[in-house]
Amino acid sequence: MIYVRATGIPYVFAPCIAVCRDPRWGAVPFVAGNKKVAACAKHYVGDGGTTKGINENNTVIDRHGLLSIHMPGYYNSIIKGVATIMVSYSSWNGVKMHANRDLVTGFLKNTLRFRGFVISDWQGIDRITTPPHANYSYSITTGINAGIDMIMVPYNYTEFIDGLTFQVKNKIIPMSRIDDAVRRILRVKFIMGLFENPLADLSLVSQLGSKEHRELAREAVRRSLVLLKNGESADKPLLPLPKKASKILVAGSHADNLGYQCGGWTIEWQGLSGNNLTQGTTILTGIKNTVDPETKVVYKENPTAEFVKSNDFSYAIVVVGEPPYAETFGDSLNLTLPASGLSAIKNVCGAVKCVVIVISGRPVVIQPYVSLLDALVAAWLPGTEGQGVADVLFGDYGFTGKLSRTWFKTVDQLPMNVGDPHYDPLFPFGFGLTTTPTKAN
Ligand SMILES: *[C@@H]1O[C@H](CO)[C@@H](O)[C@H](O)[C@H]1NC(C)=O
Ligand SMILES: *[C@@H]1O[C@H](CO)[C@@H](O)[C@H](O)[C@H]1NC(C)=O
Ligand SMILES: *[C@@H]1O[C@H](CO)[C@@H](O)[C@H](O)[C@H]1NC(C)=O
Ligand SMILES: *[C@@H]1O[C@H](CO)[C@@H](O)[C@H](O)[C@H]1NC(C)=O
Repeated sequence: MIYVRATGIPYVFAPCIAVCRDPRWGAVPFVAGNKKVAACAKHYVGDGGTTKGINENNTVIDRHGLLSIHMPGYYNSIIKGVATIMVSYSSWNGVKMHANRDLVTGFLKNTLRFRGFVISDWQGIDRITTPPHANYSYSITTGINAGIDMIMVPYNYTEFIDGLTFQVKNKIIPMSRIDDAVRRILRVKFIMGLFENPLADLSLVSQLGSKEHRELAREAVRRSLVLLKNGESADKPLLPLPKKASKILVAGSHADNLGYQCGGWTIEWQGLSGNNLTQGTTILTGIKNTVDPETKVVYKENPTAEFVKSNDFSYAIVVVGEPPYAETFGDSLNLTLPASGLSAIKNVCGAVKCVVIVISGRPVVIQPYVSLLDALVAAWLPGTEGQGVADVLFGDYGFTGKLSRTWFKTVDQLPMNVGDPHYDPLFPFGFGLTTTPTKAN
């Protein structure tokens, strides 16, 4: 076992040297001092591969597919010392992950030698049965015996504690299972230094939203943008855009909406719309901050084609995307953008040279519009620092990002993964055009 004090200096205890000699020693949870947090990798495992992408659904795939497509994130996070792993509501081939002893105890704890603790999702053991909580004693037995160490019980925790205690006393759940859970939870707490400093370190509160952190977030935005199209051909690129122009148009539902830039799980579970929920820079503000002072920036969320044609814009930036969502609210069988976004693309790009920036948590239907638009950028959910988008659009920095997912042509191709025999994506996994910074812009 490796013990990391709050100072961040690792201490290796003699009894544990055998573990540390093991080439898999990185499976030990690691927290580098009081300025780092205990992380949680989730949702174990196959959560991204459910049938039709439906939340909490069933992932149908053979073991080889599970290990090669869905498991690599866990290999990496365990080696980096992730302290906790949360189990998925979803099932693998019909077996609820919260009940899957083979994958939680067998693979995660025994094969990968994960030494942090396994936590359930919110009412995760309740949902082992259909309907949820139909047989709670069964849920307790099955979840604990699967190898879950900490159970997230949002409401009636005495029911859980009483049920668990009864089952341990009656040897339905072996004491060795409790010992394993307690050992793992205590190990993480020791490593976090909670026994030396049990309370939150309030001296760090002033760091929240600090300039330094916003700069880092802005850099993350710059580096995560993926340029999917840039002009009709490589010798006629549209990007980087000139900062100096007489008049430019910024359009689209996501151009001036911090809540939309941030997506779900921001301030509220399902996210919000608008600019007064948190501090930050919208993409529109970022553009205004970046262009030449003489460039006139016209912002119109949903311009008509007539409006665009009747103005002499040098070029247009259209920012569209998905509204915020989390979990089941994000389920979509069509993966289309809202109609307002599609009409913004048509009205603007049909009339003037345009770059379309897509704000989305995933690839969306874009193929029908690719020939209409001049440049296309996947910005994912850039968060509060919309300035990072302008930094790259106008060439202060180059585009460098690559697709970490395959971008489909039509939803009926899904699921489609790199390596599939009939791989026919719109943009393949790893795709991303580059530009070079133009300091003279
Ligand atoms: C609940 O599950 C247990 C098995 O753990 C079973 O013995 C019992 O009959 C079930 N109760 C109901 C009401 O289905
Ligand atoms: C909590 O669970 C116990 C045992 O099932 C039950 O008797 C009690 O009514 C529950 N309390 C609430 C507030 O649901
Ligand atoms: C801004 O926030 C306030 C609450 O602080 C709310 O009452 C108001 O409706 C919000 N305005 C917009 C445009 O969202
Ligand atoms: C696509 O699916 C979403 C979510 O289910 C739905 O709200 C929307 O109306 C659908 N769009 C079309 C064009 O069918």
